[in-house]
Amino acid sequence: MGPSTPALSSSLEQLTEACRGCRRCGLADGRLHVVVSRGNPAARLMVIGEGPGAQEDASGLPFVGRAGQLLDQMLASVAIDSNRDAYICNVVKCRPPGNRKPTVLEIAACRPWLEQQVRLVNPAVVLLAGASALEGVLGIKGGITRLRGQWRQGERDPLAGRWLMPILHPSYLLRNPSREQGSPKWLTWHDLQDVRRRLNQLESGS
Ligand code: URA
Repeated sequence: MGPSTPALSSSLEQLTEACRGCRRCGLADGRLHVVVSRGNPAARLMVIGEGPGAQEDASGLPFVGRAGQLLDQMLASVAIDSNRDAYICNVVKCRPPGNRKPTVLEIAACRPWLEQQVRLVNPAVVLLAGASALEGVLGIKGGITRLRGQWRQGERDPLAGRWLMPILHPSYLLRNPSREQGSPKWLTWHDLQDVRRRLNQLESGS
């Protein structure tokens, strides 16, 4: 039997405190910090990545290493400031050893925390960065290169009514630095322009 569902937190501060004491899976044993979030809890945009790496584990903040810097730059190129206009988190909140992918069980153990984050932040638009986020949030295994850039509407609580878009993970873009037309970076930039348009539409109420 898996761990029991944690109690609902009524605020993000309470949720962060609860996450700090979490021992719902084995990742708790190797962590320096539980990495809950950074950015603006009132933002309309939420970015969900895979899980903390070494720098995130050391600092307690998501996406602060090289992949995070690239994410920040790419968001900035479409006038999204990652700390002012977005709330950033991961499907798992503790670092998997050696930066391996989180397992299905680890993602499932962490899911109640992510669901509470979605409820409390209440974003209109959610970016799923990479295959683990796509699998962890929507249960879709594989297909990130085919599904990236496509809007989906969340169907079940707490995603119902929200706009979701899978994008390529910034670590993948670091390994594929070409900016040529059709390259992973070029495609992601186009995806983010689409995200910008969606946010503009939501802001103007159209
Ligand atoms: N990669 C992720 O998916 N999340 C982080 O926080 C850092 C790197």
